[in-house]
Amino acid sequence: MKNIIAFAGSNSKTSINKQLSIYAASLVENVETTVLDLNDFDLPLYGIDLENEKGIPENAHKFLETIKSSDGIILSLAEHNGAYATVFKNLFDWMSRIDGKLWSEKPMLLMATSPGVRGGVTVLEIAKGRFSFMGGNIITDFSFPSFGDNFKDGKVINDDLNKELKSKVELFKNAL
Ligand SMILES: Cc1cc2nc3c(=O)[nH]c(=O)nc-3n(C[C@H](O)[C@H](O)[C@H](O)COP(=O)(O)O)c2cc1C
Repeated sequence: MKNIIAFAGSNSKTSINKQLSIYAASLVENVETTVLDLNDFDLPLYGIDLENEKGIPENAHKFLETIKSSDGIILSLAEHNGAYATVFKNLFDWMSRIDGKLWSEKPMLLMATSPGVRGGVTVLEIAKGRFSFMGGNIITDFSFPSFGDNFKDGKVINDDLNKELKSKVELFKNAL
């Protein structure tokens, strides 16, 4: 059976992006899903001096190994000031020092959501522009707007958005 990882680019304990990635993963049939939480991969703030003095922390290696041993990735990015949340950028930077092609061509469903109508589209565009240079294989992407209005009790409650997400999940599933 194929195995996928699902996680959010957030360290919020109530992350809406984590909720969305778990829901999206639940729609992928006949795969084993591992839900990851960036809080379990604590890392110091990246700095070249720290890297030169102490090397690359174990948790960056661990996360990268988890990517490499998966068959696919569901990732939903939190948007902070129109960019990656710090916790994600930090992990991304550390992993890129081990392997510039860190996404390892694993099929990816890339998403973002926010409480606002733009649904994290700015960070999504940044990631779409960058990941392809770093081993990214984005099969499809999805910006989910107005999380508070459209998601409840672990599920998408807007029919049109649910339909759209399901069709994107199908594309992802077929690429595994
Ligand atoms: C420092 C900070 C900056 C934010 N900037 C944005 C932003 O640029 N665009 C946006 O849509 N939401 C922004 N938000 C709101 C986040 O989308 C919201 O906190 C969301 O819950 C983050 O996702 P998460 O719950 O998965 O961490 C910001 C929140 C914080 C704390």
